[in-house]
Amino acid sequence: MATFLNFLSAIFFLSLIGQGNGQCYPVTDLKVFQTQTGDQVGNKPQWKVTILNDCICTQMSIKLACNGFHSTEEIDPSMLAKADDTACHINNEQPLHGHHTFNFTYAWDAIYPFNPIYSEIACS
Ligand SMILES: *[C@@H]1O[C@H](CO)[C@@H](O)[C@H](O)[C@H]1NC(C)=O
Repeated sequence: MATFLNFLSAIFFLSLIGQGNGQCYPVTDLKVFQTQTGDQVGNKPQWKVTILNDCICTQMSIKLACNGFHSTEEIDPSMLAKADDTACHINNEQPLHGHHTFNFTYAWDAIYPFNPIYSEIACS
């Protein structure tokens, strides 16, 4: 009987793990937070962008909307680089692991939204 219960709880546990993987959604499970750092670059306020992978699985090929984006702070292309006319890659196109964050800063008068527009889910 004890063995059978162990077996049932193992099945239950495995189904929870399986569910966790299945619950990841590209794009919507990327969260973007921004805060003003309090510093100025080229006479404009500096903003810190945090992109959070809000799920257990890795997200790859992430693209953010960035048309019309400007910055008086020079941004290293390994942080943020144009992918095409409307979208940017982040972090040299490296995958963002589950529950990890990626940060970069820019400087402009107004906050720029950086909405995620593309990603792919990779569960192991
Ligand atoms: C990004 O910034 C957040 C908030 O300050 C911090 O908690 C996190 O550790 C940073 N991530 C990396 C990869 O440095």
